[in-house]
Amino acid sequence: MKSEKIRIGIVGLGHRGRHVFRLASEHGFSDMKNDFVEPVAACDIRPENWNEIRWGLQKPMKEIFPDTVFYSDYDKMLDEAGLDAVIVETGADNHALFCKKALDKNIHVLSDIPPVASLVEADFLWNAHLKSKAVFATGANVNEQKFVCTLRDIVDHGFIGKPFCMDAEYIHSVFPGTDENKYMWESGAEWRKLLSPIRYCTHSLGPLLSILDEDLTKVSCFGTGHHAAAEEYQTGMCKKDDMQCAQFQTASGVVIRVMRNGRTRAKIGHHSFRIFGTEGYIEIIGERGSLGTTMRWNSTKFRPAEELIVQPFPNGHGGADYNLVTNFLQTLHTGEAKHITLKDGLRMTLPGIYAEESANRGGEVMKISYPWYSDWKVCFD
Ligand SMILES: NC(=O)c1ccc[n+]([C@@H]2O[C@H](COP(=O)([O-])OP(=O)(O)OC[C@H]3O[C@@H](n4cnc5c(N)ncnc54)[C@H](O)[C@@H]3O)[C@@H](O)[C@H]2O)c1
Repeated sequence: MKSEKIRIGIVGLGHRGRHVFRLASEHGFSDMKNDFVEPVAACDIRPENWNEIRWGLQKPMKEIFPDTVFYSDYDKMLDEAGLDAVIVETGADNHALFCKKALDKNIHVLSDIPPVASLVEADFLWNAHLKSKAVFATGANVNEQKFVCTLRDIVDHGFIGKPFCMDAEYIHSVFPGTDENKYMWESGAEWRKLLSPIRYCTHSLGPLLSILDEDLTKVSCFGTGHHAAAEEYQTGMCKKDDMQCAQFQTASGVVIRVMRNGRTRAKIGHHSFRIFGTEGYIEIIGERGSLGTTMRWNSTKFRPAEELIVQPFPNGHGGADYNLVTNFLQTLHTGEAKHITLKDGLRMTLPGIYAEESANRGGEVMKISYPWYSDWKVCFD
């Protein structure tokens, strides 16, 4: 599937969509330069996100992209814009239908995470992707972070043996009164107020599942209720647990423990991981972005313990966003799969959906299934 020029559209022009659309439009490869991508169409139900200056921009999107056609109706964009590919950047609980509609028209999709918000959505998206001729790429950008690439290198070389117990936390900073709060949390994006924290587990599970050759098949999860954010809960600004903690297990007994925050007052260890393997141990105490990430590891094969400061790639979440878009476009350009697949996306997403249900049931152990399993069904046991 070698394309000469990719006609790209986007749906969802929140801060993330605006950033990813600009990144995609800047892409060119050594043989095709910058005219490889043609940013032809953009869609949002809020035209002000196209017409007016928004957070992080010096001028409105319509002035940055004077030749791009704006739509407020997604179906119309798909019908009229002649797209080769669409980037889906709507809210985190609202991706699957946009993706399915594009796949049904054989339009390639790069969807931000998590790709689905329910078992029903997982079912219809999986089936749409099996029927479609188009590529589906999961936008799991943390999998493209340099410290995660380094982690995969260390594990692939066999230095820590086979991972058998891992933990991870993804703590998003939440301080009242900051610009980040004002624009990202108080801008009316309902999913930021409502989405159960453990459902946004892809930043933690994605990297760990990329070094594990099994799926997660069991989970038990607890939530804290409201402590740090009690006043926001009372005023309806936030309706989710301050923190949720889940323990997942694979069929062979590998355990992964994940901690995810709702409104916790913390700007620490955005992405932290600990991996115990049969021959060694790795820890990553990570901030995203421009700071170097500390990785420490030791192994029966290498003594004494090593400490690495992994410098990020440039440009957007430590360069991870750029890599994500590059890999998607490279897949379309060369036909050789470089992207993160839908199967990978569902392996890191569905465990969070079962975990939320477990928390709702007071920590009950839930069996996890996937659309490619023979016992798959679209409701919980
Ligand atoms: N991977 C990462 O590091 C990362 C970071 C932040 C956000 N995200 C993801 O990016 C996505 C967007 O995040 P955000 O902060 O920009 O969210 P947001 O809620 O601010 O923006 C979503 C946009 O989608 C638009 N929209 C909603 N329904 C629509 C419809 N039917 N048609 C057209 N437009 C519609 C909204 O008007 C809004 O402008 C989310 O899925 C989130 O999970 C990922």
